Amino acid sequence: MCGIVGYVGDQPALEVVMQGLRRLEYRGYDSAGVAVLSPDGQLVRERKAGKLANLDKLVSATPMPGTLAIGHTRWATHGAPTDANAHPHLDCTNEVAVVHNGTIENYEVLVDGLERRGHVRRSETDTEVVAHLVEERFSAGPTAGDLPATVRSICRDLEGSFVLVISHRSEPDLVVAARRNLPLVVGLGEGENFVGSDVTAFIAHTRRARAVDQDQVVEVRRGGVRITDLDGVEVAGESYHVDWDTAAAEKGGYDFFMLKEIDEQPQAVRDTLGGRLREDGLLHLDELSMSDEDVRGIEQVFIVACGSSYHSGLLGKYAIERWCRLPVQVEMASEFRYRDPVLGRNTLVIAISQSGETADTLEAVRHARGQKAWVLAVTNTLGSTISRESDAALYTRAGPEVAVASTKAVIAQITAMYVVGLYLAQVRGTRDADEVRSHMRDLSELPDLIAEVLTRMEPVRALARELKDSPRVLFLGRHVGYPIALEGALKLKELAYVSAEGFPAGEIKHGPIALIEPGTPVVVIAPRHALQAKLINNVQEVRARGARTIVIATDGDDSVTPYADVVLRIPDTKSLLTPLLTILPLQVLSAEFARALGLDVDQPRNLAKSVTVE
Ligand code: AGP
Repeated sequence: MCGIVGYVGDQPALEVVMQGLRRLEYRGYDSAGVAVLSPDGQLVRERKAGKLANLDKLVSATPMPGTLAIGHTRWATHGAPTDANAHPHLDCTNEVAVVHNGTIENYEVLVDGLERRGHVRRSETDTEVVAHLVEERFSAGPTAGDLPATVRSICRDLEGSFVLVISHRSEPDLVVAARRNLPLVVGLGEGENFVGSDVTAFIAHTRRARAVDQDQVVEVRRGGVRITDLDGVEVAGESYHVDWDTAAAEKGGYDFFMLKEIDEQPQAVRDTLGGRLREDGLLHLDELSMSDEDVRGIEQVFIVACGSSYHSGLLGKYAIERWCRLPVQVEMASEFRYRDPVLGRNTLVIAISQSGETADTLEAVRHARGQKAWVLAVTNTLGSTISRESDAALYTRAGPEVAVASTKAVIAQITAMYVVGLYLAQVRGTRDADEVRSHMRDLSELPDLIAEVLTRMEPVRALARELKDSPRVLFLGRHVGYPIALEGALKLKELAYVSAEGFPAGEIKHGPIALIEPGTPVVVIAPRHALQAKLINNVQEVRARGARTIVIATDGDDSVTPYADVVLRIPDTKSLLTPLLTILPLQVLSAEFARALGLDVDQPRNLAKSVTVE
């Protein structure tokens, strides 16, 4: 939910941290701030509500020399997005600076104690309690003068989820960080070291990274990094090479990251499919680290996810049930564990998450593992918490996705779910080798078909500009068109703030049709399909009430077009794979709606790229 950067080295720390915050701004942009340790040992802090540009203006007018700094972009949880609530937060003596991602659930109890002991609170945030606790425990008591030990003792007293990055004016060569449940990664340089919410914070300086696990405390110094558990015992760990190139994390000439990421979808699908076929054309998924016997022992599948990833899960259900004849339940991760589902060793739980850090999904993973289910993460982020806390991880290889509205990661997730479904069918023998090869051949044609559809988007952009003032838009689909209707509605909601809803087309007559007024845009996902006749009935029902019908139809299929005010064409492909094509016009439609309305396509209001609080 927030972006965090810490740096110790020999470069001007302010520049390093501000550059990192620019890369992390997609994680939250309600406010931003930095604290630099000046050469004369003062903690100099600047912070500002609003986007990072506001802080940029401030610090460009304020000399902040120093080679140690911490920084933060905020997605507000406790306290309005004001200057006073902006991180970093300081203690009473201005000797301690803290930035924080997450929620400290017992902060009120901690505040009461601190105020009773004379501390003066200067914000509404939960974060500030940590600054005062460091002030207390670093200045007296068993951890006096030992900042890592102080932080370890405080972490033992905190409840909730957090990443903390802390500096103290008396420690010119030390930044201390700690994590519980939320993402933190170390960047390893030469004579300089970094911590960040994700690798984009520092890949401009180093590609050597190291993951930080649950309840670990990181000591970052110029000469090296030491990671311990909460008892102070050093933990071993391997560094890994980050292969994202910095260009991939830049806009590459597009006005918005989202537009670039839409165009990157052919490659995202190609890369997600790549390397998963054996010489004989069959699938091998070593990442699953499940024996064939384990796979054959599966008796039920649950898919848990949020938002667009949930929609990918719905499509995974169609594929797995069709190819594997296994019962699949797709659950909103935030609801999953509270209904106490019946899980066991015979259960495969697939957790889909682009960021690999979504708190709702992470807690669902933990619950499933506690119930002895086998958990497979399908994620786009190497070394993410969900991937590390699952039994196995299948990576979607979509590359860094910066725009808050997910596009290439979603299409890569759908692809990955098809691959998982085919693999399970292959091992369980519910589809023979030739069928698996045939479906993989069909899938391998999709990147070119996606590229073809993306060349047809001008009418969609024009339509978006025409419809931009519509207060309501409905999306209808049947079978695998239904999850795409949901995804199209979500995109329009989160990007253009339009009241958009997706329905199974057959459901429209059971109430939602009352929403139709003359001119209400209704987008119908209608690729060639066995259910076309029924879908036509639904289109006629809404048209008879004045709806403006926008139909996504297969090249050459004119069965629905007589009832369409606008027809958007996609190439033909197997019906189960059509979502990889029908999703595209809906992504472009919502992005262009937002652009036509003058909204920020990459950073829609109230949202963040990774929702790391429940
Ligand atoms: C997608 O456009 C949204 N930004 C959001 O629904 C997202 O899919 C959801 O928060 C899940 O995120 P995850 O895939 O990183 O877990």
